[in-house]
Amino acid sequence: MIDIKITKTTCPKAKPDESELGFGKIFTDHMFIMEYDAGKGWHDARIVPFANFSIHPSSTVLHYGEEIFEGLKAYRIADGSVQLFRPIENVRRMNSSADRLCLPAIEEEDALKAITAFVKVEQDWVPHSEGASLYIRPFMFGNDPHLGVHTVQSAVFSIIASPSGSYYEEGLNPVKILIEDQDVRAVRGGTGYIKCGGNYAASTRAGHRAEQKGYSQVLWLDGVERKYIEEVGAMNVMFKINGEVITPALTGSILPGITRKSCIEVLKSKGYKVTERLISVDELKDAMANGSLEEAWGCGTAAVVSPIGMFMYKDVEYPVCGQRIGETTQMLYDTLTGIQYGKIKDPFGWTVKI
Ligand code: PLP
Ligand code: COI
Repeated sequence: MIDIKITKTTCPKAKPDESELGFGKIFTDHMFIMEYDAGKGWHDARIVPFANFSIHPSSTVLHYGEEIFEGLKAYRIADGSVQLFRPIENVRRMNSSADRLCLPAIEEEDALKAITAFVKVEQDWVPHSEGASLYIRPFMFGNDPHLGVHTVQSAVFSIIASPSGSYYEEGLNPVKILIEDQDVRAVRGGTGYIKCGGNYAASTRAGHRAEQKGYSQVLWLDGVERKYIEEVGAMNVMFKINGEVITPALTGSILPGITRKSCIEVLKSKGYKVTERLISVDELKDAMANGSLEEAWGCGTAAVVSPIGMFMYKDVEYPVCGQRIGETTQMLYDTLTGIQYGKIKDPFGWTVKI
């Protein structure tokens, strides 16, 4: 088990105005860091004042994109205490990401200890206002100081945190999503199923084009046929068609979202029929045209549950659910945030007290 040395800042920052948080713009007073070296393993676990990294100009991450990350939140509950939502799932996914990029794994209990010790130090930064939370960003990068392309011998694992409000400016109002038919995000056998920086780099151009058209994010199609729906930029996607909830199956190019998994478990517990399968963009288009698409939403840690009010595909706009939040989307939002903020009982055992 790692031993974590804590050095507190001597000049804590003023806490931000919670009505102006936005997403990921403000950072807390400290950060967690530990290093890995082959033959030595992970070492020097510490929580220190928030500061810049100093890395060699040939560091692997700068040239070959050896970087993975996670995203989870700490929530303030009514009695003033703080809790996490399914952190073990983030730890396991991070190790799966590490495995794909040949980065070193971290023992599950060490990673959990790092997250909880860090959040404990930063607990005053967990916002008190409705809908706000402390977004926690664990990340790891390869840090060898030479240019050969090899399995890394040195790596850094760090955790930073940002008090955050809503991910989208729209809040819980429906977002507009553009179905991307040019660029692709990932292919099977690639890195689509992990959370690595490169996936987001590859997504930037389409996201930029979507924003220019007034759309929040893109909906990706599969990388081979550009036919099957995969996921949205920072969310998995779900559709309610004729009363049944359908979500793309995890075929290897889609991120196995923790919110996706949680939505499926909540829906099944409430008696909904949920199907994970391939769904083509033509099937979606038909369902939008004949009115059988009742609701569509995205789900992710940052975005929570976000109703989709409009799709655009090949320059044609398709409004969804009268551009309002549908009842199933609202139920999922209320149930997940209810559990996360401790307002309703957690029958699944998902929350972890700090
Ligand atoms: N898909 C992508 C590409 C994401 O970036 C995210 C956000 O983490 C998700 C899906 C949702 O995953 P999770 O619910 O684990 O946050
Ligand atoms: C998250 O929901 O944690 C994400 O990673 C989204 C993000 C890329 C901003």
